[in-house]
Amino acid sequence: MASSSFHCLLFCSVLFHLIFFPSLAKSASFRPKALVLPVTKDSSTLQYLTTLSQRTPLVPIKLTVHLGGQFLWVECEDYISSTYKPARCNSAQCSLANSKSCTTECYSPPSPGCNNNTCGLLPDNPINRTAGGGDLGQDMVSIQSTDGSNPGRLVSVPNLLFTCGSAFLLEGLASGVKGMAGLGRAKIGLPSQFASAFSFRRKFAICLSSSTSSKGVVIFGDGPYNLLPNIDVSKSLIFTPLILNPVSTAGAYFTGEPSSDYFIKVKSIKINEKVVKLNTSLLAIDNEGYGGTKLSTVNPYTVLEKSIYNAVVNAFVKEVANIPRVKAVAPFGACFNSKNIGSTRVGPAVPQIDLVLQSESVYWRIFGANSMVQLPRPQFQTP
Ligand SMILES: *[C@@H]1O[C@H](CO)[C@@H](O)[C@H](O)[C@H]1NC(C)=O
Ligand SMILES: *[C@@H]1O[C@H](CO)[C@@H](O)[C@H](O)[C@H]1NC(C)=O
Ligand SMILES: *[C@@H]1O[C@H](CO)[C@@H](O)[C@H](O)[C@H]1NC(C)=O
Repeated sequence: MASSSFHCLLFCSVLFHLIFFPSLAKSASFRPKALVLPVTKDSSTLQYLTTLSQRTPLVPIKLTVHLGGQFLWVECEDYISSTYKPARCNSAQCSLANSKSCTTECYSPPSPGCNNNTCGLLPDNPINRTAGGGDLGQDMVSIQSTDGSNPGRLVSVPNLLFTCGSAFLLEGLASGVKGMAGLGRAKIGLPSQFASAFSFRRKFAICLSSSTSSKGVVIFGDGPYNLLPNIDVSKSLIFTPLILNPVSTAGAYFTGEPSSDYFIKVKSIKINEKVVKLNTSLLAIDNEGYGGTKLSTVNPYTVLEKSIYNAVVNAFVKEVANIPRVKAVAPFGACFNSKNIGSTRVGPAVPQIDLVLQSESVYWRIFGANSMVQLPRPQFQTP
């Protein structure tokens, strides 16, 4: 049993967050303990996708999962719904959303995304690094409840706040995607709105698969998180505080806004238990909001600052000096013929990479299964 629970942790990053705000949305009589959204990995873009049912009548909306995203935004071009409500300027909804703009008059016929006297936000697409303005509105969302093991009945959130985004913001997103599901720490991020609607703890878990053939999941609310039969992964977690970056990291934002991204404090990096020499001041968030370690679902692989990347790759290569290298395949810097690498229960037999967190005894250990990417054979050539 220990081995299977261990195995699952490798593929999961479970995180929690706590924030408080006045409750806004009202729930129906059945009160779920937790909600669940299935997540798949798109094989062409490597984006994590989910589907949320929205509007009246309900329409399934395919979305790219954006862990640090400020809120839900959807493209509103063919939006038909009898329950859509624009958020009027200066309303409680606009202030909860921290909107600093008001569209007094929209010059096209009224529709979701174009209403007079409606406050606006700045939806962004961090994949193509685009951002725009869009109306804040509310509509019905239907989502599956769960007891932590099995899917339960569908429940609805009648007035979920979201933003309309322009069609150009969809560029670079996976085929069929109509917006982004922002799970960030903003007050109108999906975790906060769901917790508020059903009065459960402001806590969520996300388990992502590195493979495009197996599913991941987002669970909003308290555990158990029985991601494997009869194994509650919430019992075997390592904890680290989430850090607030006081400067927004969104593509566009109102001045003074903090970041909705989740940061953690990585103090050092070890490979095979040896500390990698690097400029540790880059591991802290500076006055302008740069630096630090952000958890992201929109970059297909880990992104490192250049000097840190070079130090990590060099240290790793030194530790596997006995494994012949092959010509690197972009975007990677070090590639090896998999024939020369043994395999273990936790993936290819390569040195483990530890992200050392708040103390030496707390680290995020990355084994071969999560540090190595298997590429198709024909791309390999010896140098
Ligand atoms: C906004 O108000 C103006 C002036 O009253 C009106 O002509 C226009 O049709 C309205 N637009 C919308 C989108 O409601
Ligand atoms: C958006 O991203 C895709 C994929 O990276 C790229 O092919 C495309 O040119 C980008 N579009 C814009 C407008 O930047
Ligand atoms: C380390 O990084 C900081 C922040 O970019 C920079 O100011 C400093 O000069 C760097 N130190 C070294 C020794 O490179």
